[in-house]
Amino acid sequence: MRIAVYPGSFDPVTNGHIDILNKTSKLFDKIIVAVVHNVTKTALFSLEERSRMIIESTRHLDNIEVECFNGLLADFVTGKDACAIIRGLRTVNDFEYEMHMAWYNKIFVPDVETIFVISNSNNIFVSSSGVKEAALLGGDVSSLVPPVVKKGLEHKLSKL
Ligand code: PNS
Repeated sequence: MRIAVYPGSFDPVTNGHIDILNKTSKLFDKIIVAVVHNVTKTALFSLEERSRMIIESTRHLDNIEVECFNGLLADFVTGKDACAIIRGLRTVNDFEYEMHMAWYNKIFVPDVETIFVISNSNNIFVSSSGVKEAALLGGDVSSLVPPVVKKGLEHKLSKL
């Protein structure tokens, strides 16, 4: 079985992430979306909220699992017997950071390949941080995120 891990903060999941999953779900038998507790970022949504929104937004795909983790990605990937790490690439700004991460992961899990995937052009600039900022300032993000995320953002921001 060919298993891939798609790690990220997903705070929250966007249409760009869903695009990546639509494309890669055809390439692997199973994709485990690893929702990471990133110590360097303050999250708007809890790990459970983020996971629930991913599960809800990927119901049309039958080979996606969602798990939370903190720790070294290489350990998680090894524990899952995965052969690949999936990462989305948007602009050249992403490139250096992604190369660093891929390099570290190659050191720790040499047999696992990092696969970079480009989302469809309509989602190429969508980012979780951009969506959060736009929503916070009253922008309509319905074309950028799944409906469950739009609802989640409205609910969260109404409490701020
Ligand atoms: O969505 P993000 O925040 O860009 O995802 C980054 C993430 C979570 C994939 C990255 O920070 C990560 O892999 N964290 C786990 C810790 C780790 O393994 N670090 C060493 C590789 S650089």
